[in-house]
Amino acid sequence: MIVALPREGPSEARVALVPETVSRLTKSGVTVRVERDAGVRSSFGDRMYEDAGATIASDPATLVRDADILLGVGRPGDAYLQALPKGAIVLGFLAPLGDAEYVRTLARSGVTALSMDAIPRITRAQSMDALSSQSNIAGYKAVLLAAAALPKFFPMLTTAAGTIPPAKVLVLGAGVAGLQAIATARRLGAVVSAYDTRAVVKEQVQSLGATFLEFDLGVDAEGAGGYAKELTPEQLAKQRQYMIDAIGASDVVITTALVPGRRAPILITKDAVAAMRRGAVIVDLAAEAGGNCELTQPGETVVTDNGVTIIGTTNLAGSVPQHASQLYSRNVHTLLQHLIKDNAIVLDFNDEITKGTTLIHEGNIVHEPTLAALGTAGAAS
Ligand code: NAI
Repeated sequence: MIVALPREGPSEARVALVPETVSRLTKSGVTVRVERDAGVRSSFGDRMYEDAGATIASDPATLVRDADILLGVGRPGDAYLQALPKGAIVLGFLAPLGDAEYVRTLARSGVTALSMDAIPRITRAQSMDALSSQSNIAGYKAVLLAAAALPKFFPMLTTAAGTIPPAKVLVLGAGVAGLQAIATARRLGAVVSAYDTRAVVKEQVQSLGATFLEFDLGVDAEGAGGYAKELTPEQLAKQRQYMIDAIGASDVVITTALVPGRRAPILITKDAVAAMRRGAVIVDLAAEAGGNCELTQPGETVVTDNGVTIIGTTNLAGSVPQHASQLYSRNVHTLLQHLIKDNAIVLDFNDEITKGTTLIHEGNIVHEPTLAALGTAGAAS
């Protein structure tokens, strides 16, 4: 079996397999081909891959010749798809929901596609859960960005020159990224509070030493697979109203609220930003999904007229590329171990993990949530 590891596009510093995982694969009889400089931006040089038993390919066509599977972080580029043998598999964060055009185009290329962001959120699949491993990193990095942009200390300091009070950090959305943001802000000495529409996270928030804000929206928004359900416009308006004082009293607000397949809910309106103090910082981890703050510019940092910095940097996990790649690589390897039987990939659609993760099978869109989002019952056209 031949596994191909591409060099990602210019905006992606991560790599899908690190040398440690390549070594495990080659020892188990898998042939691994790595595109030149694929791991350089995450600190893994070609030599390290060669030492792990891989061969280096100089261009996409050589890389994917006779390959069984192309393992990426993001979506595969056209040069790879065009050269990939018929029947080969592509794997990566394909982000199918909300992008019907992309899914149809990918299906027309005749590949089989597995999407790392579709792995079911079940206990058995936890070690394959790349959304979690990468969100964890994003939550950590969001706090570092906030601390660097804030014109204040995070911890309380008692010095000969006077006492500095601790920074107040509010985390909106206490899923994987939010919980890591809470833990990181606490480690830096901030006073942290948090809110989530899923009541189940209250104890997790408190166990990290943060205060859980409670508003009665009249719902617990826990939905399928542990994800949040979308609030109604009335419930969202109520939530924004409840939160306006908490936002205005904060030095830093980190927002991570997402609802799968939907635009991120707006939790911080222009008016809420206008009520914040000069120097306050918002880090919007939902920027890629449209943002939790009305004024977020995805990929940009803006400073408002009243002096609030809004950081909309996307792909924060990719800004910690060495460890992000290491964790992603382990997720990918566990999924491969699950799929490989007798040195070949076998897709058993009676298996919940395989079924949930397969987006396209031999050119046919088979992923139920994607089909539902497309509103079609079928194939490549
Ligand atoms: P996510 O990235 O989709 O959403 C982030 C957070 O935003 C969630 O906690 C959600 O409840 C919250 N949110 C949505 N709308 C909101 C609103 N209007 N206001 C405030 N918060 C809002 O979710 P994530 O972090 O990827 O996972 C969510 C949960 O799924 C986890 O906390 C866990 O319970 C479960 N999970 C289970 C796994 C497993 O069993 N293998 C693996 C990972 C997560």
